[in-house]
Amino acid sequence: MNKILQTENLGKVYRVGKIDIHAVRGVNLNIEKGEFVSIVGPSGCGKSTLLHLMGGMAKPTTGRVFIEGINLAKINDSERAKIRREKIGFVFQRFNLFSALNSQQNLEIAMQIGCNGSVDHQRIKEIMRLVGLENKLYHKPLELSMGEQQRVAIARALINNPLLILADEPTGNLDSANSYKVLYLLKDLNRNLGQTIILITHNQEASKIADRKIEMKDGMIIFPS
Ligand SMILES: Nc1ncnc2c1ncn2[C@@H]1O[C@H](COP(=O)(O)OP(=O)(O)OP(=O)(O)O)[C@@H](O)[C@H]1O
Ligand SMILES: [Mg+2]
Repeated sequence: MNKILQTENLGKVYRVGKIDIHAVRGVNLNIEKGEFVSIVGPSGCGKSTLLHLMGGMAKPTTGRVFIEGINLAKINDSERAKIRREKIGFVFQRFNLFSALNSQQNLEIAMQIGCNGSVDHQRIKEIMRLVGLENKLYHKPLELSMGEQQRVAIARALINNPLLILADEPTGNLDSANSYKVLYLLKDLNRNLGQTIILITHNQEASKIADRKIEMKDGMIIFPS
């Protein structure tokens, strides 16, 4: 199946006191297998909200999200959680690694959650090699550079062989040299493994790494128009 993710007229309104905030408005997207797509736009334009809707972490106010043709609104919370666990790898600006655990242990936990409790150390080694950190298996997050921590977080996102990687500002906490490494790692994963990736960023320069760019403003897609 080539269709990985579709959104139809997707919208999200937050209510704060008596004020409605239209964070996402009428977004139609179609992401196919093997694509590397960036979603770029200024702070507050609704990128993270859109990512949360696409990942089934938030419920839309209007419209629908389909993952491999499954309408996320038509399944229950535990089925949605299963899709999140098994099909989507998340990467965030603040790596979200467990600080008391080393790289291998962080990946073990992700593997146990995704694969019914089983752990495959060979697979962990292979994925750590893929992100260029095969010699950092036993380092805890604070014993790694920021760029290395993000690469462990990317390894974690990949560990269960996800259908889709959703990355929200993965270079937001990194200097330019490390940003470059992380962006090119994503590029390699897309090119060499055919990994489908959606990269969210406010940085126009970073967005160019993707093969297809989508621009957002005020909750809407303004490019392509
Ligand atoms: N939980 C929430 N409750 C109320 N308003 C929210 C909530 N989350 C986001 N918003 C508002 O929705 C709008 C979109 O926010 P969002 O976080 O999606 O933007 P963003 O494009 O990811 O911004 P940034 O680049 O700064 O991360 C903003 O006006 C924000 O203040
Ligand atoms: Mg955001």
